[in-house]
Amino acid sequence: MSRLVVISNRVAVPSARGAAGAQGGLAGALDAALKKKGGLWFGWSGEESADPAAQPSTQVRDNVTFATIDLSPQDVEEYYYGYANETLWPLFHYRLDLARYELATGRGYERVNELFADAVAPLIEADDLVWVHDYHLIPLGENLRRRGVKNRMAFFLHIPWPPTRLLVSLPFHQRLVRTLLEYDVVGFQSGEWLESFFHYCQRELGAKVDAARGTVTLEGRTTVARAYPIGIDFDHLTSQAQTGEARQMAQRVFASTRHRTAMIGVDRLDYSKGLPERMDGVARFFDRYPDRVKDLVFIQIAPPSREAIGSYQQIRTLLEQKTGQINGALSQVDMVPIRYVNQGHSLAELTGVYFASKIGLVTPLRDGMNLVAKEYVAAQDPDDPGVLILSRFAGAAQQLTEALLVNPHSPDDIASAIRDALDMPRDERIARWKPMVECVRRQNIQQWTADILEDLGGRAGS
Ligand code: G6P
Repeated sequence: MSRLVVISNRVAVPSARGAAGAQGGLAGALDAALKKKGGLWFGWSGEESADPAAQPSTQVRDNVTFATIDLSPQDVEEYYYGYANETLWPLFHYRLDLARYELATGRGYERVNELFADAVAPLIEADDLVWVHDYHLIPLGENLRRRGVKNRMAFFLHIPWPPTRLLVSLPFHQRLVRTLLEYDVVGFQSGEWLESFFHYCQRELGAKVDAARGTVTLEGRTTVARAYPIGIDFDHLTSQAQTGEARQMAQRVFASTRHRTAMIGVDRLDYSKGLPERMDGVARFFDRYPDRVKDLVFIQIAPPSREAIGSYQQIRTLLEQKTGQINGALSQVDMVPIRYVNQGHSLAELTGVYFASKIGLVTPLRDGMNLVAKEYVAAQDPDDPGVLILSRFAGAAQQLTEALLVNPHSPDDIASAIRDALDMPRDERIARWKPMVECVRRQNIQQWTADILEDLGGRAGS
């Protein structure tokens, strides 16, 4: 039976400081996959050290070996903050205005990818299936090939793939994209990102694309490229929703919002999530329907993220200003329309908040998938489900088509959707929720893993 070797920037080992704070979909998603198959998870420990050891430190838990390395402050600065999060992240989220192109950070990115390859290559055994994750590690596959690794390798991109016309603004874009074709399988969150990838390969690399088969061929080498929409661990989430922690949280929300409908947003504090734009939408709702201010309380949970980066500091300031303005203008001595919470919460607590909130507001400007939308759906009361308001620019919108789909740039669109959600009769809420929960239940994280591993040739071992 083939082992699975997962390689990602973050590793969800409890002792790795960085992983505990990662609210993104990646960490939780992989945990379930690895436990089932057994194998190795390699990545950054989340720690900086002045003189990091080249050998990874390892620990074994539940059939899985966790191997991590520390990075030097310069590596963290150039690779993680610099190229990954100030160049690729904004560019891949269509934010050319925020993307910085610096040679030094590009070199840091390449250097850390070499470092990762040096550290992990000796740990890979002959039959292992290798699965690399996300934009931090695009060139890793090529680096491993240069070190003689012949194993089947997959790469999955958790974020959007940008349109060709934006991607060509990246210096050395061809060099970066060519490295992807060293993998056997390249996966995207949705058909839209896949289409942009095909377009780029054809137009910029002159590769032969067979969209129907899902393959890209360049210089005699063929890579499978497909959309594999990521899901949630549905059973785990529903079990978390039964815990005392979840019930207590639901009670806290119910008790403190009596006679008002709670509307919930949960996002890392990232400019891609459209948080200031969301506040504009909420403000527009209060403006247009002043007699309904008393009906709604908006709870926005937004744990800070990547705080060393200027654009993240700016988005936080802007969000705080907007929230403060709305609350200042509309609060009464006994009522505050927006609860803005920077603290992170456990999944169990979140399921409680989702359950008690009759509207889920998920309005990223651009998002690879967005698992909050799926978690919200999964945590609803089947007899009295809430309404999901979802950005049409999230990958999840291609699956959760019964949500109220909105343009997150339009405050009026968001305001109208909030009104429609507040007024939606129970029958319609149930009719919309049922197919969505079915989709979330079926296309879960286990299915996602199985689909990718099947294409990687790992069916026998799964
Ligand atoms: C997104 C990315 C993940 C990342 C997460 C949290 O979901 O796709 O790769 O781990 O954000 O961001 P951070 O920079 O804290 O790892």
